[in-house]
Amino acid sequence: MAPRIVFTGGSGKAGRHAIPELIKRGYEVLNVDLTDFPDKEANVFTLKTDLTDSGQCFNALTTHFNFSGYEGPHVPGPPDAVIHFAAYARNMLVPDNECFKGNVASTYNVIEAACKLGVKKVIIASSETTYEVCFGQGDLDFTSFPLDEEADVNPMDTYAISKLCGERVARGFARRFDADIYALRIGNVVEPHEYAQDFPKYISDPKVRKRNAWSYIDARDLGQICDLCIKKDGLGFQVFNATNDTITATFPTRQFLEQFAPNTPITREMEEWEAPLSNRKIRKVLGFKENYNWRMYYNPE
Ligand SMILES: NC(=O)c1ccc[n+]([C@@H]2O[C@H](COP(=O)([O-])OP(=O)(O)OC[C@H]3O[C@@H](n4cnc5c(N)ncnc54)[C@H](O)[C@@H]3O)[C@@H](O)[C@H]2O)c1
Repeated sequence: MAPRIVFTGGSGKAGRHAIPELIKRGYEVLNVDLTDFPDKEANVFTLKTDLTDSGQCFNALTTHFNFSGYEGPHVPGPPDAVIHFAAYARNMLVPDNECFKGNVASTYNVIEAACKLGVKKVIIASSETTYEVCFGQGDLDFTSFPLDEEADVNPMDTYAISKLCGERVARGFARRFDADIYALRIGNVVEPHEYAQDFPKYISDPKVRKRNAWSYIDARDLGQICDLCIKKDGLGFQVFNATNDTITATFPTRQFLEQFAPNTPITREMEEWEAPLSNRKIRKVLGFKENYNWRMYYNPE
């Protein structure tokens, strides 16, 4: 039987590409979201659920994945894994207190329900914003490059703080339930149609991408990362940067950073074109191999 995955927030920008990628890789996926899956042809069932309500959360994790579930002899049990992407995905969508309350409550509820129902693999969406600069006040410098997962981070904005709280809940519950909970510090998500639309500006005016550390993640490659996280057991609590391989620039990383981030120390040897928000850990630990590099879609030369 195909592994059963509950994916929260799958109707959003990242999930609408990550879910089809997971289905392609052989999973059965239930989308749990406030809104329907945008692609009606994709045959993705959505259970309308408000994850800030713990009761709804427990129920959503013990439901049929679609109506054919009623045909078999068994009532549904918990899924094999939970991927939690639902969130207010940035500041300024709602007032800060609602962003904090919504994100922290939904992440707590999902992790608690999954762990108490015996699910041993949970993947949660954290964010590049935890590296302090993205929504920090003023023109901040990153503490150091490359941005690796073990850095101590202290973001000042509410959205990033809500994501860091999610990581902390994940760490505690992984310990208490001996579960694997992997937090993905997701880079700026790029959908296929956005390369042609946005990259000419990103490349010609590098200043506009400082807040994203000149890094990104293709939404379909993010689906691959979720798959690899599901397949890799036994790591307990982990933080993984989820970004593509290379810097979004036309000259190599060290030379680029010396020009555009002269005040930020470089703390280890970087690969020639390595993204400043480095994905070295997912390549080494999970075996990530990107399929969708930005240069496939936009050639600035
Ligand atoms: N988009 C990015 O560049 C980016 C970067 C870093 C991290 N992230 C994180 O990745 C995840 C996915 O981001 P996205 O861009 O797809 O966001 P999105 O806003 O496009 O989608 C989020 C989805 O979550 C759903 N949702 C929100 N609150 C909910 C609730 N209470 N119950 C159920 N569903 C709810 C929304 O309906 C929406 O479909 C988020 O957790 C976000 O914080 C995104």
